[in-house]
Amino acid sequence: MTDDLFAEPPSPAARAADLRAQLHHHAHRYYTLDEPEIPDAEYDRLFRELQAIEAAHPELLTPDSPTQRVGGRVLDMFTPVRHAVPMLSINTETDTEPSGARNFDARVRRALGLSESDPPVDYVAELKFDGLAMSLRYEDGVLVQAATRGDGEVGEDVTTNVRTIAQVPLRLPADAPPVLEVRGEVYMRRDQFEALNEKQRAKIAAGAKGEKTFVNPRNAAAGAVRQLDSRIAAQRPLSFFAYSWGEVQGDDAPPATQYEWLMRLKAWGFPVAEQTTLASGADALVAFHQRIGADRDRLPYDIDGVVYKVNALALQKQLGFVTREPRWAVAHKYPAQEQLTTVLAIDVQVGRTGKLTPVAKLAPVFVGGVTVTNATLHNEDEARRKDVRVGDTVIVRRAGDVIPEVVSVLVDKRVGEPVPFTMPRTCPVCGSEAVREEGEVDFRCSGGLFCGAQRKQAILHFAQRRAVEIEGLGDKLVEQLVDAGVVKTLPDLYRLGLTAFATLDRMADKSAQNIVAALEKSKYTTLPRFLFGLGIRHVGEATAKELARHFGQLNRIMDASVEQLLEVDDVGPVVAQSIHTFFGQPHNREVVEQLRACGLTWQEGEPAERAPQPLAGKTFVLTGTFPTLSRDQARDLLEAAGAKVAGSVSKKTDYVVAGAEAGSKLEKAQALGVAVLDEAGMLDLLKTPPPENPVTA
Ligand code: IVH
Repeated sequence: MTDDLFAEPPSPAARAADLRAQLHHHAHRYYTLDEPEIPDAEYDRLFRELQAIEAAHPELLTPDSPTQRVGGRVLDMFTPVRHAVPMLSINTETDTEPSGARNFDARVRRALGLSESDPPVDYVAELKFDGLAMSLRYEDGVLVQAATRGDGEVGEDVTTNVRTIAQVPLRLPADAPPVLEVRGEVYMRRDQFEALNEKQRAKIAAGAKGEKTFVNPRNAAAGAVRQLDSRIAAQRPLSFFAYSWGEVQGDDAPPATQYEWLMRLKAWGFPVAEQTTLASGADALVAFHQRIGADRDRLPYDIDGVVYKVNALALQKQLGFVTREPRWAVAHKYPAQEQLTTVLAIDVQVGRTGKLTPVAKLAPVFVGGVTVTNATLHNEDEARRKDVRVGDTVIVRRAGDVIPEVVSVLVDKRVGEPVPFTMPRTCPVCGSEAVREEGEVDFRCSGGLFCGAQRKQAILHFAQRRAVEIEGLGDKLVEQLVDAGVVKTLPDLYRLGLTAFATLDRMADKSAQNIVAALEKSKYTTLPRFLFGLGIRHVGEATAKELARHFGQLNRIMDASVEQLLEVDDVGPVVAQSIHTFFGQPHNREVVEQLRACGLTWQEGEPAERAPQPLAGKTFVLTGTFPTLSRDQARDLLEAAGAKVAGSVSKKTDYVVAGAEAGSKLEKAQALGVAVLDEAGMLDLLKTPPPENPVTA
């Protein structure tokens, strides 16, 4: 298949032989091993190419050609079952546009000899489930056998496994005929498929032998049904939809239409898809194809198309069959959700939070209704497991709203020896070190403040109320500032003047003034708030406070070794390493310096051991509104001096600091004889002894 552009095209005989060999190979991978190497659409393409050659050169048709055997092979591991009534296949309408439905209606009308003035034909429109066909045999109302379709004549007895499917009734109501074969599709829901693969990945990661992940829900379902150990099959969550019937004996009142049949099956306890509907004439079929196509992504399971069936059984009989395919039914597909393409490059993208994601750049390919040029490889482990390399031919899948992903590589088609993918050790956006922490799957850029990819996130984090608090600097404004290119890093914010803000779109003068004032106000902050605002991974508010208390000064934190950081309460190895790496990035240090140069200031002190803690051991309660300080600021000051700030007054309270409109807490303090201070009194207490050289960098 590696077509050499300069070679002679192969003779039809050689090409047919080649195609037969390929189709045999892929049919074996698909039906027997449940490990397909190529998407169905590609298999179909090869199949049709062979059909076309054989049609043009009938002398090339061999009895063993895959075109002569529709369906799969019977596995020797399960007992073969001869179907009392053959399990048919359906003809496919290849035009995937909704209007393709008209071709079927036209064929039906022609075959029935109807003219334009005749009334519309009634159809049943159903979903085409993407699972595997199953025949369930009930005798005297009891499930006695479940068989796969096999080649349509002979399938496999998989009764023990199918009995584990909760949706398959084991016993039918008394009005069911004594012999009844119900046909339908066994499938796996998408969420259950994801969960199963998640479990499989965990098993593989834990070193389990012989485990694998599944390519798609259909293969997972097929694997479960063909599982020789039914205990394992029972753990695979399968579902069932009924859509047809086989042998029926002793039916007193057989229905006259497909639709009535489905309603009966439903009444007997079989799941019938709720979308199933009566449709009169071609327009109704077109509308159904359109409606289901629009909802397809939201269904909890995969469908690959819809099926139209002539409703009246008498008309079905009249229409009959062409070879094994009924003329009264057609499968109308949607664009395939899997396609083959080649990998042009493997890029690494950096997300808003600094997460590095490997992404395969693809030769454009039409999948699931859109042209796809990128597919995620999720993370380093996934990329390695799939072993995707530049130049590889891969299967891409786009199902539902999920981002397209590379399912697998066709290793046979690899040309030469492209190098395996490795995750870069530096951020492709800003050049900072990329770190993968123990126990995590993702690499992250450590240049949080500097990295272009993380700009918006970093600014919003810094500006939030619990950090330095820049009032009015929200999502929209940050978006605007960054997208306009006026703010690249945090210090840029402080360098922007009133005019810069006022010239932004949708920014009134008053708002511009407010934001400039808010920026000015935010310059007077505290060390814990500033530290928290830097957005160092794993450094939350509590850790920031502990760090500030322990080291007293920012420079000491920036220069601390991992060992020194480990001495801080609540700081473990992961946190210590994260802080150390953060301040190890020259860019991050640079941003901190620039912020100080812009006028950001806070009180600094001595490291905890030596710092004067004039209020150590004292408990304060704050109540009311203070004249100059906010409640948070007062708390920060008291805590920095070693005091504890409690929420309610008790005998253990040393001081209550009361502002305007102080209520019950003040009354309680007076009742208990606890000392009461105002803001000035509290500030006096803090001043003794006065803090050493308050640093305003
Ligand atoms: S009817 C003649 N209805 O599609 C009717 N088949 O090639 C026989 N399928 O193997 C089948 N959804 O597994 C029918 N609503 C539906 C279906 C459906 C999925 C599958 C079935 C069969 C294949 C037809």
